[in-house]
Parts: sequence; C-alpha cells; structure tokens
Amino acid sequence: MVSRRRMIGAAAATAGGVLLMRTTLRPAAPAAAPAAAVQDTAPDHTHPGADAPDPGPDTGPALVEKFTTTLPVPPVLSPVSTDGGADTYAVTMLRSFARIVPGHRTEVLTYNGAFPGPVIRARSGRPVIVRQTNLLDDAVSVHLHGSKVPVASDGGPMNLLGAGATRTYTYPNDQPHASLWFHDHAHHMESEHVYRGLAGTYLLTDETERALPLPSGRYDLPIALRDARFDASGTLVYRMDDPFNRTTILANGRPWPKVEVAARRYRLRLLNSSNLRFFSLRLADGGPITQIGSDGGLLERPHTTDTVDLSPGERADVVIDFSRYPVGSTVVLTNSLPPGPPEHVGQVMRFDITRAAADPSSVPDRLRTLPAPGPAARERTVVLKVEEGTGGAAPRGLIDGRTYDPARVDAAVAFGTSEIWTVVNANTDVPHNFHLHLVQFRVLERNGKAPGPEESGLKDTVRLLPGESVRLHATFDSYRGRYPYHCHLLDHSAMGMMAQMEIA
Ligand code: C2O
Ligand code: CU
Ligand code: CU
Repeated sequence: MVSRRRMIGAAAATAGGVLLMRTTLRPAAPAAAPAAAVQDTAPDHTHPGADAPDPGPDTGPALVEKFTTTLPVPPVLSPVSTDGGADTYAVTMLRSFARIVPGHRTEVLTYNGAFPGPVIRARSGRPVIVRQTNLLDDAVSVHLHGSKVPVASDGGPMNLLGAGATRTYTYPNDQPHASLWFHDHAHHMESEHVYRGLAGTYLLTDETERALPLPSGRYDLPIALRDARFDASGTLVYRMDDPFNRTTILANGRPWPKVEVAARRYRLRLLNSSNLRFFSLRLADGGPITQIGSDGGLLERPHTTDTVDLSPGERADVVIDFSRYPVGSTVVLTNSLPPGPPEHVGQVMRFDITRAAADPSSVPDRLRTLPAPGPAARERTVVLKVEEGTGGAAPRGLIDGRTYDPARVDAAVAFGTSEIWTVVNANTDVPHNFHLHLVQFRVLERNGKAPGPEESGLKDTVRLLPGESVRLHATFDSYRGRYPYHCHLLDHSAMGMMAQMEIA
C-alpha cells in the first residue's frame, strides 16, 4: 500500500492571466466502498481502485472523429403522478451501456438508463418528489445541487441510500427559477459515481422567467460539458485525480458532437459536470455570447462577452444568435484551458447552421431584480488547500487544515442571519472552487475587487484559481440542520476537502 504522487504541470493563458494547473494528488490504498447507513469516518480518505494498473493513454481522441456524433437532447422525465399538488417521479439507478464513442458500448452508471442523466422540469412553488431506487452495487446519495431543501432530502455525503434500497427525496421548489443539476454525493465515491454517469439536469422555472421573451422550447438546450478517459475498447477509465488523461470532451454524453441549429437565437444552459476540468469557452470566430444567467438563475441584466468560464459544478445560461452566420456554415465552441492537447481539449462541439428560421425571441435589457445583500451578522474565513502526503501517506484535501469529519461541525451559523465568508485558495498551483449547499449566495469581491458581471447574480459555486480569494454573502433563513460545503472538484472532495455548517 504505497502512495505514489504525481506532479504534472501545465500553464495556460487565460483572460485573467496565467493559470497554473497541476494535478493534485493521488490517494494511497484501496478501501471498501462505504456501506449503507454506516458512518464512514475513515481519516485517510482513501479511494477504491486507486492502485489498479494504468490502462494507458486516453484513446477517445483516436476512436472519435470530431463533429461526427450528434448532440443528444437529454430525455425529459415524465412524472408517475401529478396528484396532490406535487409531481412525483420514479427513478432507478442502474448500470447500463451507452453509445459514447462510435462502435463501442460503454458501461455507465445511470439514472433510468440515461447517460448523462435525464432532465427534470419543475416549477417554483410546486414540489417535486423523486422516489430513487438504487440497483447499483454501491451506496449512493442523491444531491440536488443549488437547491434549498430540508436536510433529509439534501443528499449529503453520509446520508446514504444502500444497494437495493429505495428512498424518497422531496424538493419543495420554494425558490426562484434556476438551472440546477442532481448528482451523486456518497462520501469518497461521489467522484467516481459522477464520472461514470450519475448526474442529471433539473430545470426550475417560475413566472419571472416565463414572462421573458427568451428563446424557448426546442431553442432552449441544456448542454452538460465534461471530460472523460477511454481505453482501447471504449471503456470509461476512472482513476482518481487524473485530469491529464481525461482528454475526451463530451457534450451531453457524446464526444465532440455537432448540433444542427437554425439561423436564430438559442438559449444554451451550459453546465460543467466535469470532476476536475475548468472550461474557458469561446466561439471559434470570437463571436458574441450573451450571458443571461448563472448558477442561481437569471442575472439582473444580460452581459455580452466572448468568453464563458466554468469550473466544475458551475452553470452559465447564455444566448447565442446564430443569425449572424450564413446558412451552410459552422462554428466550433472552443476551450482555451488545459490540461490536455489543445487539438483535443481545445474543441468542445460544433454548431452547424443549416436553415433559416423566424425568431420572435429577444433578450431584454432587464431580466430580474435581486435584493442588495443586507448586513451580515458575522464574517468567517475558509481556507482551501490540498496537501501532498508525507512519508507515503495519502494526499489530503483540507478545509481550514482539516479533512472532512461528519461528526464535527465546522461552522455554527445562527438561523435567520446573513454571513460574509472569505474563501481563500491557499495552493499556489492547484485550482479549486467552493460550493455551499442550501443557499444561493452573492459574490461581493474577487481578489479584493468587485466581481465581473458574470458573477453578479446568484451563485452556489465559485471558482478559485491558485492564490485567489472571494468574499461571499449568504443568508441562512430557510432550513436548519447540518449541510456540507466543499470544493466541487469532486476528486478533491473525495479526498476530504469538505466541511459542514450547522444552522441552528
Ligand atoms: Cu454539487 Cu455538494 O454538490
Ligand atoms: Cu450542492
Ligand atoms: Cu479543490
């Protein structure tokens, strides 16, 4: 049981300067999967499969000709019941096979057999009840990322649903519209489970959003972006902390797909569902992208840019007007961030403008009004850091110098108050980000300055490049209980980079 660590470096120029990206760390020894209903307090944060033989380089780029697969529209789930003022869904988690790389069937973990997972459409004020049945071999936990839900339905890391078990999650949807997503959160296993497919989309809408003339229906596309690694037989390879080998880019589960679009406006709900990869997205011609929303729904005003940055777990709601491209032309969505060869990871997907179309949609100058962040009852600082193991010990993901301990409360929050959290990335060469459960917060400052327009709305996840800090304002007035906060680079949270607050 020897811990090997890998230190691989790469530098990338970003809009904000130079971003150093290194892989972090690699855990030491295989450990048993967490069993259902067992409190896993193992201090070493090891991970199953960490020492499996290396299967060689990612073969995705060799197996796939870019822009030959078609972007799938993820299936929208139908409720099994709409009685009692709520929509009830039945979801089964099961192993399945997906056609990801052409000519191969790839084993994946799924919600209802779909890779990536299905879309749940919900309305504010109307609860959704999801009956989840776990037909996998591992315990799981289903978390609705960005939601305001009672702790029993939050799908925290220790709130496990064992193999063979069924559990009902209740989502009150007592919050404004937002593009949310749901994913596995079983402690130590979330990174592998999400990587293998346990992630889906949850689109919550409300009157404010529906009153706007934004592109809708077939012109409103959820697109989940991520990376992956394949072996020569098209099998998905998961190794913890492996960003340099995940060089196949998937959009809605297909590698480098194309999508046929009409020459008109489209709304794209972009989600970065990668474990570790940051994207900096641009149209190949540098054309304008109008960002209208972020994690917690619409911005107050649209903002037009040529670049959209997304760290793992973040969402950006954008409108692209393809009418500026001639019918018959194509435009590639590119990514300027490593790691990986730019000829592969630098390309994401392609839009093929195939027809003219009428376009009654528009993007109003004013999208919504958000209250100004009020006074805060207290301030605290949260320090994120990954640390190499010494003397053969496993690397650790730390928050305020400690790995996650489900028995410990790291932040005691007074119910009904607002707080300002200063979150610091204490690594000089490893990016992190920061996600709070339960609340949508505001970004007050990034590195001591006002945040850019893309971070001016409601957020639940913020990126923290090496050495960066952000000041966040959050109000804890919805539910009491213990909720986690963590780095959303899931390989890091699986290494312990997670903590919990108790709102009481
Ligand atoms: Cu998207 Cu605690 O997770
Ligand atoms: Cu979350
Ligand atoms: Cu991290």
